Amino acid sequence: MSVTMAVLASGNGSNLQAMIDAIREHRLDAELRIVISDQPKAYALERAKAGKIPTALIASKERAVFEQELASQLRQSGAEWIVLAGFMRILSAPFVAAHRNRIVNIHPSLLPLFPGKDAIGQAWRAGVTETGCTVHYVDEGVDTGPIIRQTKVAIQPGDTLETLTERMHHAEHQLYVEVLRMISEGTI
Ligand code: GAR
Repeated sequence: MSVTMAVLASGNGSNLQAMIDAIREHRLDAELRIVISDQPKAYALERAKAGKIPTALIASKERAVFEQELASQLRQSGAEWIVLAGFMRILSAPFVAAHRNRIVNIHPSLLPLFPGKDAIGQAWRAGVTETGCTVHYVDEGVDTGPIIRQTKVAIQPGDTLETLTERMHHAEHQLYVEVLRMISEGTI
């Protein structure tokens, strides 16, 4: 039986798309039960609809209200795992505690370096020669929590922020699908 997942996304949803494609192409044995967004205009919602995945929009700016609705949607979906894919809200300590070791996130840096917003830009401006992406369990902090797997991405002499960003996204899509496959196989 497939592992069941809920995806939380605030933006473009390219990581979500990588999951949808991997499931369709039988590279990932998982069932996306619901895609939840906090942003009405998130393109991730369109991708979910195109992939025939149920969606929910939870727009409340008040964290307690937001999380109550989130918990209710998750419960109804029956999803075992919560997969954050460009979800730009911080989950409260009680919410995280209630789902400990069941929430994963992807972040575009080699954590603990460059947490927070615009991690690719942060690495670019810092002038490092190497960055990468991280999949980790979510805890109460911002982009903290035990690291599951990382991929390095070299910053090449001819790179611009745009070419680096493109390579980073490609690396993220591969890494996230790989980690979700490990989850689906029960190896993590
Ligand atoms: C991704 O680069 C993801 O790693 C990042 O947001 C982007 C979402 O892209 N997440 C964070 O920075 C979390 N702190 P997507 O909507 O196209 O998947």
